[in-house]
Amino acid sequence: MASYYITTPIYYINDVPHIGHAYTTIAADIMARYKRLCGYDVFFLTGTDEHGQKVEKAAQSQNITPKELADRTVSRFTELWKVLNITNTGFIRTTEERHRKVVQYLFEKIYQKGDIYLGEYEDWYCIPCESYFTELQLKDGACPDCLRKPERLKEESYFFRLSGYGDKLISIMEEKKDFVMPEIRYNEVFSFLKGGLKDLSISRTSFRWGIPVPINERHIVYVWFDALTNYISGIGFLEDMETFNRYWPCDAHLIGKDILRFHAVYWPSFLLSAGIEPPKRVFAHGWWTIEGQKMSKSLGNVIDPYEIVKTYGVDEFRFFLFREVPFGMDGDFSKGAIVNRINGDLANDLGNLTSRSVTMIEKFLKGRLERPEKNGGMDDYVVESIYRLTETYRSEMEIFGYYKALNAVFEIISILNKYIDSEAPWRLFKEGDGRIKTVFYNIWNGIRITAMLLYPFMPEKSQKIWEAIGIDKYIGSSDFDHEKGFYFTEDIKLLHKIKPIFPRIEG
Ligand code: ME8
Ligand code: MG
Repeated sequence: MASYYITTPIYYINDVPHIGHAYTTIAADIMARYKRLCGYDVFFLTGTDEHGQKVEKAAQSQNITPKELADRTVSRFTELWKVLNITNTGFIRTTEERHRKVVQYLFEKIYQKGDIYLGEYEDWYCIPCESYFTELQLKDGACPDCLRKPERLKEESYFFRLSGYGDKLISIMEEKKDFVMPEIRYNEVFSFLKGGLKDLSISRTSFRWGIPVPINERHIVYVWFDALTNYISGIGFLEDMETFNRYWPCDAHLIGKDILRFHAVYWPSFLLSAGIEPPKRVFAHGWWTIEGQKMSKSLGNVIDPYEIVKTYGVDEFRFFLFREVPFGMDGDFSKGAIVNRINGDLANDLGNLTSRSVTMIEKFLKGRLERPEKNGGMDDYVVESIYRLTETYRSEMEIFGYYKALNAVFEIISILNKYIDSEAPWRLFKEGDGRIKTVFYNIWNGIRITAMLLYPFMPEKSQKIWEAIGIDKYIGSSDFDHEKGFYFTEDIKLLHKIKPIFPRIEG
């Protein structure tokens, strides 16, 4: 069985999870579920980033140890992933022993290679962002990311010879045009590399909460060197090389565009230096704003995913995020927009299609479907369209084209609704025309396939649709690969009237 390995960033535990964290994690879950349908053995890793000065300071102010703080807050993430039906295979915390070993191993390996040297680092340091900035990068003297005042800091530091890896990365990118996706991010990384790379400071002496540098315990490994290493420690590097070798190199590191450079430049360089293959692909998505504004604690507009799920439902939320905005672009979240999607796409288009079809099959055919006798009218067009749009869906899913994939699904839904209107089964019934069986056979299969295509996005709703059309439990593994079963089947049981699967939302 071919393997597929996908990751999310590991999130900082000093923040409460919000719509942005949910977004990346749901995106990864969609791909994991899709790939499982395609028959892959999927490893899906997420986790938490628990070291660094911010955590140390937060713990101090609460009079607890940083580890206690981490233990208390990690569940905010693990609980949310349960609520959002995230099917991650692994969860890695950077405070785990298995992780520390790998970070220290990697550091030492790179040191032995001659790519780490001791020097002195001085620059503008933003504590909340845990990043140094050059004078040029500052925005009117403030941190370009959070706009707070940075401090002038000078410390002894180990440096990584990043400058030696620019050409290697350029040649990797020239050969692999999908090394960074989407294209706009590829171009961004490529021109950054063309501008030349400076060596990177990878240790700190200014705080203690982190992983000690193995060759000099006064130094703590820089948080990003520590954090990035999760992608190999989380799949058993060192302790379970069989698992590691099955999944590495990673098929896709899914991240937001804010942390692109760390993933597409620093991380592959560390790996190349240590003699480990770089990841196959980094996909950086866009940024969510809230009702037109940047999300921030001080504005009090941070969207709590628990709240959204309670109001609109899990699958509605998962669906909205990828139906509303092309994956890769920035998006704006508003209550009006999610309500429109639920009432339009889900209640009107998909919900009505399902409920009126089931009602008619029950009424006109006593809930039973049969192999069609004759084709005519729109039948062939509908069947061919479903095949064609399913292929569109699949090729889009392969390149994280969730938006176009969903467009294809909704084109199927629209074709099926129009098919009902144009073929008017109630008239065929009155006239005793045997083609009524053909029409409903095609509609039934169309709905079944639609639910399959929507499954990665809305797993619970798909299940309900299958139940509504007389299938108890549909999803097994590798369903896409059983082409015959995937398309038109006769595996039909008795259908019964159903309660609405997608109730309308008022307001
Ligand atoms: O950066 N819109 O963790 P983090 C879209 N620990 N996505 C958003 C978002 C928004 N408004 N806000 C956050 C870190 N995200 C490091 C990562 S990985 C080795 C270490 C998502 O908690 C997006 O995926 O700040 C972004 O990259 C990530 O959360 C940053 O999470
Ligand atoms: Mg952040």
